[in-house]
Amino acid sequence: MRAPLIFSFPGNESFGERLALSVDAECGEFVLRSFPDAESYVKVESDPTDRDVVVVATLVHPNDKMLPLLFLMDALRDLGARRIGLVAPYLAYMRQDKRFNDGEALTSRSFATVLSRAADWLLTVDPHLHRWTDLRQVYSMPAVAVHVASVVGAWIGTNVDTPLIVGPDSESRQWVETIAAAAHAPSIVLTKTRQGDSDVVESQPDLGELAARTPVLVDDIISTGQTMLVAIRHLKEHGARTPVCVGIHAVFADGARNALEEAGVARVVTTNTIPHPSNAIDILPALSTVLGAQLGNAGKP
Ligand code: R5P
Repeated sequence: MRAPLIFSFPGNESFGERLALSVDAECGEFVLRSFPDAESYVKVESDPTDRDVVVVATLVHPNDKMLPLLFLMDALRDLGARRIGLVAPYLAYMRQDKRFNDGEALTSRSFATVLSRAADWLLTVDPHLHRWTDLRQVYSMPAVAVHVASVVGAWIGTNVDTPLIVGPDSESRQWVETIAAAAHAPSIVLTKTRQGDSDVVESQPDLGELAARTPVLVDDIISTGQTMLVAIRHLKEHGARTPVCVGIHAVFADGARNALEEAGVARVVTTNTIPHPSNAIDILPALSTVLGAQLGNAGKP
């Protein structure tokens, strides 16, 4: 059987090339550009006939990416691809997992419905699973989540002196304990109340002798940075040392990273699920192991 083809969406080229190399796949070529009227032009240049194909597209700022992505996957199917996998290191819209107010769109489900019609399987990294506890609750295609808490923990254990792993909210508890175990460090979890997009309040237990350690705030997503900022403020008020902030997904809304740096953190570090200057933790080997098994399984995740 011919090697799988990996098509990297714009912005994912170096990640996609490394991924292809790691699973003995070939890099697929395609053209994506805009017509003068801003409609999308897509042209597949590598023949996908009877081949497994994978599209690598991290889905931060997803709205502009979605139509071209759907067009590409539709073209690949039309041109005879055997199975189409989507590798989205960051999966968008997972936080809209509840109708918080009457009439709101449940966009995590709408987004999943659209993607599930276009691809045959999905591979992602630590999606925001909170009220949905499993991707299968929203994705009708086979969907696999790769968990990188132990990779993050190993990085902290090697790079931070006497760390204290701090989860900013109860949602972070799911990965705080794994990170702490891999970093050989103690952990605490704070309590967060979100009152609006950028309005977050925190409470935390007394640090006691843990105040002598370096707090490492860990979260799945850093978006507005408010969750981290409020936690930083509280840690400082409780006499903690200068904290390090670690996020899996570097979403960073405008100004968020500067705000964190101005709040006086020692360092802001993320994984490379979303390309960003703060990337320091390479999750590609973890993703590649699962992708290799996925392709070897001929599409049976
Ligand atoms: C929410 O529960 C997530 O785990 C993160 O804490 C949240 O998305 C971070 O967002 P922000 O940076 O906007 O506070």
